[in-house]
Amino acid sequence: MQTAILKDQNDRVDGIDKVMGRAKYFAEYNLPGLTYGVLVTSTITKGKISSFDTRAAEKAPGVISVISHLNKPSAPAYEQDGGPAMKIFYTDKIFFNGQPIAIVVANTFERATYAASLVKVGYEKEDFNTDFEKAVSNTKAKKLQGQPDYKRGTENAYKTAEVKIEANYHLPIETHNPMELHGIIADWRPNNQLTVYAKTQGVKATQGAIANVFKIPVENIQVNSEFVGGGFGMALRTWPLEIATVMASKHIARPVKVVITRMQMFTMVGNRPAAIQTIGLGAKKDGTLTGITHRAFGETSAYENFTEGVVNMAKFMYQCDHVNTQYTVVPVDLGVPIWMRGPGEATGAFALESAIDEMAHALDMDPLEFRIKNDPEKDQQRNKPFSDKNIKEAYRVGAEKIGWSERKNKPGSLVNGQWKTGFGVSIGVFNANRGRASLKAILKSDGTLLMQSATSDIGPGTGTGMSLIASRILSIPVEKIKFELGDSSLPPAPSQGGSATLSTVGSAVNDACVSLKSTIAELAANSNMDATANFVDVLKKNNLPSIEVTKQSQAGKERDEYSMYSFSIHFVKVKVHSLTGVVKVDKIVSVGDSGTIVSPKTARSQMVGGAVGGVGMALTEESVIDHRYGRYINNNFADYHVPVNADIPEIEVHFINKPDPYINPMGAKGMGEIALIGFSAAVANAVFNATGKRIRTLPITPDKILTSS
Ligand code: MOS
Repeated sequence: MQTAILKDQNDRVDGIDKVMGRAKYFAEYNLPGLTYGVLVTSTITKGKISSFDTRAAEKAPGVISVISHLNKPSAPAYEQDGGPAMKIFYTDKIFFNGQPIAIVVANTFERATYAASLVKVGYEKEDFNTDFEKAVSNTKAKKLQGQPDYKRGTENAYKTAEVKIEANYHLPIETHNPMELHGIIADWRPNNQLTVYAKTQGVKATQGAIANVFKIPVENIQVNSEFVGGGFGMALRTWPLEIATVMASKHIARPVKVVITRMQMFTMVGNRPAAIQTIGLGAKKDGTLTGITHRAFGETSAYENFTEGVVNMAKFMYQCDHVNTQYTVVPVDLGVPIWMRGPGEATGAFALESAIDEMAHALDMDPLEFRIKNDPEKDQQRNKPFSDKNIKEAYRVGAEKIGWSERKNKPGSLVNGQWKTGFGVSIGVFNANRGRASLKAILKSDGTLLMQSATSDIGPGTGTGMSLIASRILSIPVEKIKFELGDSSLPPAPSQGGSATLSTVGSAVNDACVSLKSTIAELAANSNMDATANFVDVLKKNNLPSIEVTKQSQAGKERDEYSMYSFSIHFVKVKVHSLTGVVKVDKIVSVGDSGTIVSPKTARSQMVGGAVGGVGMALTEESVIDHRYGRYINNNFADYHVPVNADIPEIEVHFINKPDPYINPMGAKGMGEIALIGFSAAVANAVFNATGKRIRTLPITPDKILTSS
């Protein structure tokens, strides 16, 4: 077991630039002739625009143009049938409250903001529903299959088990709220050449999306996104507001910048969908699981469908011969959701991992012992061995570090004055993805290495991880390595999502560096130098200023032979105040089982960030809508509560750090999602252990603790 401090605790390669303010985020670019766009948004939830008066706005100081469905510039994809579900400025239909319906462009942001307030809009209103819980219980409301039903063995086997539990779990809408606001700068020039500075998790995806709407060649579009101030999934697609900005630039033939407001972050760029889930578990009295049923309803929008893997985990995470799942999505009149950290799995894991704890309690077993007893030897869903899985070891490491031996199985046993202490555990799991990426590497006789790939870094430290991989293969210090990303003209790579960047792009780094190393060895041999000669000497002797290679890398057939997942175990110790119901997270221990840890410092940061997000999901985060108007009412940082430093105890992170033999040359699996997945259940389980109160509706606020029996 490796719990000692890992070596190579390298700082982030761009850390100093970020804290010194030298790293430039999209909104900080200032192009000659830059103008500022502000979006006018609908004030009704559903219906049609009946009148549109822009005269006052157009006459306001500094206003250059007001663009709406009445004077939209050409966007060929919107003029065809099909295509994007919400064709911005190409429809007079309103699908949700806060929908962008016009953009006002002026020579300053303040003037654009003022002029936007002068646009007068009349509407024909229609009935609407923004209440997901109401839509789920309304038998007449539209319901769509989100994923094919799954069945292994007998359906609902839990119902006839020796011991059974059945419960419903509710998650509210959660909003990503990265620190950096969303937006884009678009500069459409003659001959349909376009440069954008974007906040995106995928420069190639942004390039492709814009090319598709305007039907111009991708080569005409340059996307720059070197630094991104957090995304959590909300920048995995190109949103209508970005297309609106491009349209505006095309219309006025000047660069236009749009940065949306914090309030608009709640309506224009997606959210984690609300969900209602039912879990049924059956077990023998000895603690053997005999049946799992997982049924979920997820929120989607009325104008565009969104699905995610809410019920995946139930199919393989526990040894069980009888499993069935069902996933239904239910449209409401809100903006379309999008992936949010641990998409699907974080939702499903709250329910399943709470239920596992409930079953352990029903059996009067230690939940850790119950989990270990039902840990699967192989993936029963795919009928394949796991490529690598060290969960039992992770349980042991975490249990020791959190002080699990102090825990009492009887809830409410640990009381000190008005505070009750409890311990909780949960598992997180996410598919260990690996895609296809290309990378160019240039090794120079000045002793430096330059690598280029059109990947992104929304914060995990991509450049740092890639530099460390190269540094170890080529024995070059990290300071002499530069990794360029966030530029659509570089060799193609997928979007940064699904915890796959290190696995995907890192493999291309590996392959390119291994190739460079062998080229150097050949050159050395050909020039009668020692095989271990320094590459600088070899290049100089051969009169080569540099050598370069471009490699494309992707997974082989081992992906079909093994089931590949990353795992995490979260341990949480809480204190709950008996009079006020306040929950204080007292200690967090997260153990990652995700193969080799390439960059210990940034890997630890990922786990810490996931735990903080998990505390928010468990205890505070909820996007609240006034269903009479279909409007968010806590759409700001004063009312939407994310954890602050005072809410967070010291977080201990441990890694199993054993290479996965099959995933990629580094043996490294993704970590971004597993850092969060399951965490909220660990908190709920700890609250139960402290108080005997089982809270099945997130967030676990004091009122729920005080009023539940
Ligand atoms: Mo993540 S939800 O894959 O950005």
